[in-house]
Amino acid sequence: MEKLVSSWFNNKTLPQSYIFPPETRPGNHVIPRCNTIPVVDLSKALAYERTAVVQQILEASHEFGFFQVINHGVSENLVNDTMNVFKEFFELPAEDKAGIYSEDLKRPCRLYTSSPNFNSEKVHLWRDSLRHPCHPLKECIKIWPPKPTRYREIVAAYSIEAKKLGLRILELLSEGLGLGSGFFGNKLSESTVLSLNHYPPCPDPSLTLGVSKHCDPNLLTILLQGDVYGLQVLKDGEWIGVEPLHNAFVVNIGHQLEIISNNKLKSAEHRAVTNSKVARTTAAFFISPSDDCIIEPAKSLIGTDESPVYRAFEFKEFLLNYIYMEGNFEKSVEPFKLHG
Ligand code: OGA
Ligand code: NI
Repeated sequence: MEKLVSSWFNNKTLPQSYIFPPETRPGNHVIPRCNTIPVVDLSKALAYERTAVVQQILEASHEFGFFQVINHGVSENLVNDTMNVFKEFFELPAEDKAGIYSEDLKRPCRLYTSSPNFNSEKVHLWRDSLRHPCHPLKECIKIWPPKPTRYREIVAAYSIEAKKLGLRILELLSEGLGLGSGFFGNKLSESTVLSLNHYPPCPDPSLTLGVSKHCDPNLLTILLQGDVYGLQVLKDGEWIGVEPLHNAFVVNIGHQLEIISNNKLKSAEHRAVTNSKVARTTAAFFISPSDDCIIEPAKSLIGTDESPVYRAFEFKEFLLNYIYMEGNFEKSVEPFKLHG
């Protein structure tokens, strides 16, 4: 517990063990926070503009690997309650969090700090994290934090809505790719996990990171980033900031969607920077295939003029390699690429 950034950071200078090497630290560059990451109005997908929305999502996923959605159908009250209960969790007194803190990677619901490799990593991340599965909900909910008292009730409702939203977006993507209806609505999207990030105010944001550069290893991520800036996406070798928008979700393409689409959709590298003024709390809802699900480029995309870029594999094989490669993009996908 004493390792959590939130338990010791007050009035301290940044410890050496949190200082990134010059080539990976954010530095003092001003990163453009312009609205280049596309914003998609999902309400239009219900009406005659559906084709245009499909096209917009497809292009955003191809070009950036990221987009934001507004008018997404998840109630604003539920989103506010959820964000509040996430913040309340991190603000609980130490004794209420002690039972959930664990360094045992096998614990399905756990509070930890930095990354799963705290004891072996060279530099620590300026964040605390709570992670737990959401499927099957009836069983998972029993292992979620018992406090704050409304955590289980609110987060259960939220996880149902986040999954629905994810499936809606996957359906639009599948339409755009020509994969037909329901393509992703099975084992490919069966597993769901919530990963909360809490980044306390940091004494020197130029030297450290909240999350270092990575791609999400799953299918699709629905991120609730709240109203504090910190997310950056790598596009053509430059970092661009993702502006926090009121009542929006950030959506990004995971490695598996890149593979299934045979590189038509892009899984973009991203990171989170810290700030010196306010704490930032975010919640990533990861939609993933089940462990034994077979992943391969969709058969209908492969034809005379297109050959598969990847071989078929079990999702758990990918995860094992991903963890081992500690988020290195090339090394994460290399063993699954077909050459020739
Ligand atoms: C993640 C992630 C970004 C953020 O949890 O995978 O990229 O802004 N988080 O918290
Ligand atoms: Ni991520």
